[in-house]
Amino acid sequence: MTRKPEAPATDRNRDAILEVLRVEFAQSRSVLEIGSGTGQHALYFGREMPWLEWQTSDRLENHEGINSWLADSSLENVCRPLNLDVELVDDLPESYDAVFSANTAHIMSFAAVQCMFRIVGRCIFSGGRFCLYGPFNLDGKFTSDSNKAFDESLKARDPLMGIRDLDALHRLATENGLTHARSYAMPANNMLIVWRRDETSRGTQHDGA
Ligand SMILES: C[S@@+](CC[C@H](N)C(=O)[O-])C[C@H]1O[C@@H](n2cnc3c(N)ncnc32)[C@H](O)[C@@H]1O
Repeated sequence: MTRKPEAPATDRNRDAILEVLRVEFAQSRSVLEIGSGTGQHALYFGREMPWLEWQTSDRLENHEGINSWLADSSLENVCRPLNLDVELVDDLPESYDAVFSANTAHIMSFAAVQCMFRIVGRCIFSGGRFCLYGPFNLDGKFTSDSNKAFDESLKARDPLMGIRDLDALHRLATENGLTHARSYAMPANNMLIVWRRDETSRGTQHDGA
């Protein structure tokens, strides 16, 4: 039997994130999660927001862990992971009301973050939301000493990792048809940023009936 992987931070941050997602995803049905990691967020959010169909995804190496969490749950609204490495997938069909991703932008290289925004801009319906959670820099500055230390530890691990400047992410969003809607200050010097997919003639978000 596969041992279920544990990401203890998910237990600490999930309720604060849930409070925001309940509002931001109130009108959504289908959500793609990018970089689901262990899958613990997916299970928690899927259970607490049963109106959503939650599509997990990650690189192949994490699928066994995500599936082991899913196998122990009876949730029907959380789907087995898509094989999604944002650098290897050109495009996804426009088929989601929303995208959620947590703690990925500082782990991915900036080139991969660019790919993530390109994919998000194409796969959500007009009016849909992209919620990105994690630590971010503001005006090129760390928002806390602990984030600065965290950034140093990331770069020691891999020089391509690092906390991203929010202005750079806003530029990527704009380039991909996403408009900044809201920013939420979150515990432990994190933020949850919400972008809204601009209206186009391609489609519209479900009414969330
Ligand atoms: C720190 S973990 C966060 C996992 C989970 N979202 C959480 O908050 O616990 C970063 C995640 O980003 C994923 N990731 C890194 N590079 C990626 C890429 N190029 N495409 C898709 N996912 C990627 C990793 O596989 C990992 O699951």
